Formats: sequence, C-alpha cells, structure tokens
Amino acid sequence: MAKLKVGVLISGRGSNMAALIQAAQASDYPAEIACVISNRADAAGLETARKAGISTEVISHRDYPDRETFDRDVSAALERHRVELVALAGFMRIQSPWFPERWSGRQINIHPSLLPAFPGLHVQRQALNAGVRLSGCTVHFVTPDLDAGPIIAQAAVPVLAGDTEETLSARILRQEHRLYPLVLRWIAEGRVAVAGGRVTVRDVSPGATLLFSPEP
Ligand code: GRF
Repeated sequence: MAKLKVGVLISGRGSNMAALIQAAQASDYPAEIACVISNRADAAGLETARKAGISTEVISHRDYPDRETFDRDVSAALERHRVELVALAGFMRIQSPWFPERWSGRQINIHPSLLPAFPGLHVQRQALNAGVRLSGCTVHFVTPDLDAGPIIAQAAVPVLAGDTEETLSARILRQEHRLYPLVLRWIAEGRVAVAGGRVTVRDVSPGATLLFSPEP
C-alpha cells in the first residue's frame, strides 16, 4: 500500500520530527516524511532532516507582509511535495485561519501538556504553578483555535516534588517521542475518525489512546 506522505513543520530543535523520521525508516511503517519545512534558517532540526536524506525548505515568515501570505506559500510548498498530512513539531508560528481550514482534518500537532490544561507557551511553568500532580502531552488535530482541536491521544507522566521546568519537560518529551509516531501510524492506517469534535481510533485496545508512564 502507498505510504501516507507527511510534511513536518518545525522552528527549532526538531526532536519530535526526528522521532517521526526514525519511525518512518522502518519498512513496515505506513507513513513517509516527504519534506521538512522550517520558518527559521537556523533551526537545528533542518540538519537532522538533511542527514536523514529528507527534502528541507526554509520559508522565513520575515519575508512576508502578513500571516496568511506566509501560510499560503507554506501550503504551496507542501503541495509541491504531494503532502497529504501536516505534522507540526515545535512550529512556533500562529497560523492564520486560512491554513487550518485548508488542511482541516489533515493537520496534527503535539503539545506538551494534557490539553485543555495549559495551552500556549511556558507550558511546564503553568503546570508547576498550578501544582498539578499529573501532566503529559497531547496529539490533536489543528483547528483555528490555538491548542484546542480534537484530541487524538495523550501520554501522562507524574509531576514530582522538586521538578523544575527542565526536568518536567524532559520527562514529557520522552513520551512525546513515543506518542507522536504511534498516532501518525494510526492516521496512516486509516483508523482515526473525527465526528462532532471527538476522535475515535478504530481497532485499537480501549486504553490505547492514553499512555501512562509512572517512572521518573
Ligand atoms: C515540544 O515540547 C512540543 O510538544 C512543542 O514544542 C516542543 C518542540 O520540541 N510543541 P522539538 O523541536 O520537537 O524538539
């Protein structure tokens, strides 16, 4: 069967992108990373992608007068690579409403909290300030509302006494690297459906859309 063509948008380190690339290197993985696009030329993830033999492009938002013009060029680049699904991986640009509408149901994001708690920036600081004992990450479809689209799957980790933003981020990031390739596999296998803003994943065990990792 043809593999699902995925375009990954990054702005920085690209460790989630690397996790997707690594998963897609397995011959039986149902998705392939068709291109990686960064809005920043200095994103470290670009080099990782190039080393893995993946096409990369830099489209700097600074070269555009407004968000939508930038978004339309990013979309055109994705289409040139015949991308069918967009995966945001640390892409630090707020999209104009045009982009999530254009890619509606075909764009996913990973966010380092158990949404709807703690959307936006400084996510671990928000979690520590709130005193939650459980945090994690969420993979969701992207809608025009920031970090608010239909949730596909989550991974939970404990928040431990003495945690800092760094230790909590690192614990969550390890789960991000498990969760994102897993969800991408389900989508590529055609198991994921959205109706009325809620997601169902067919033919997985009942608890499969929640990973829980109690280890520190
Ligand atoms: C991750 O924590 C991701 O959840 C968030 O931004 C961070 C990106 O890290 N959206 P990386 O670039 O994938 O290493």
